[in-house]
Amino acid sequence: MDHLKDLINQAQSDFSLCKSLSDLDHAKAKFIGKSGAITDAMRQLSSIPKEEKPKVGAEINSIKQAIEALLAVRKDEIQSEAMESQLKSELIDVTLPGTKQSTGSLHPISITLQRVETLFRSIGFDIATGPEIEDDYHNFTALNIPESHPARAMHDTFYIGHHVLRTHTSPVQVRYMKTNQPPLKIISPGRVYRVDSDATHSPMFHQVEGLWIDEKASFANLKGLLQDFLQSFFEDDNLTIRFRPSFFPFTEPSAEIDMSWNGGWLEIGGCGMVHPEVLKQVDINYDKFQGFAFGLGVERLAMLRFGINDLRPFFNNDLRFLKQFIR
Ligand code: DAH
Repeated sequence: MDHLKDLINQAQSDFSLCKSLSDLDHAKAKFIGKSGAITDAMRQLSSIPKEEKPKVGAEINSIKQAIEALLAVRKDEIQSEAMESQLKSELIDVTLPGTKQSTGSLHPISITLQRVETLFRSIGFDIATGPEIEDDYHNFTALNIPESHPARAMHDTFYIGHHVLRTHTSPVQVRYMKTNQPPLKIISPGRVYRVDSDATHSPMFHQVEGLWIDEKASFANLKGLLQDFLQSFFEDDNLTIRFRPSFFPFTEPSAEIDMSWNGGWLEIGGCGMVHPEVLKQVDINYDKFQGFAFGLGVERLAMLRFGINDLRPFFNNDLRFLKQFIR
């Protein structure tokens, strides 16, 4: 039976080498598994003299219990080692600085557009939008710019098959008047495109179109409205505007809008009384209704408000530039 006693030492050394519960399971099989040494010894009990059986049986049992106890101890150890290493690896140092989540900011053009929209909304204008890929009819023809008209050449248009990238926001006037009856008051902000690129021109830029149609909307109302708007936009009650006679096919009369700035005048858009031909295109009775329209350059408004003298940084996506703007 002496070799059985050795089993205890052997089990202890085997178990101590085990690093995981599955190692331990393996090691256990050698002693108390189906074909383990203890199980073997039990089986051999039948071959020893009857009177020795109780003694030997009791001894085997006590060895088995001892091995099971060793097993339980090692199992506890392995489990607490695992727990400890998990705790170590998941340790959070609450004194470390947190990971900073940087907050985004709005693009200066978006800030400008929001300001324009807020001001016009406050005096009852709706916001209308239209497609940036326009058809020839809405971009030109319906605005009284027929096929051979020189104004088409003036627009340096990007053509896409039979469509164009809209060269101005004026086509939204047409789309809106086709689906809405006067009286109507809208502005339409958005992107427009022209084949042009230098310090003051970008192939993509923004305009805000304005349109007011009712029975009496007058040229004087147009001038008053624009001046009020610009005074609010630039927070300057002394700001004045002047109209310079001009030509647009879709307005008659037409004017360039100049605004007083640093002792001089700056052009910021065009305007005029909506041409009866345009009203005819959208089936509005031009004996009963009249009105005005205007188009403002959004980049120009943004540059003046933020004091920027180059258009290009708006679209270069340099965060050092873009981060500087707050509402
Ligand atoms: N669509 C013109 C342009 O892009 C600007 C403009 C002028 C719009 C006069 C208007 C207007 O609504 O009445 O050059």
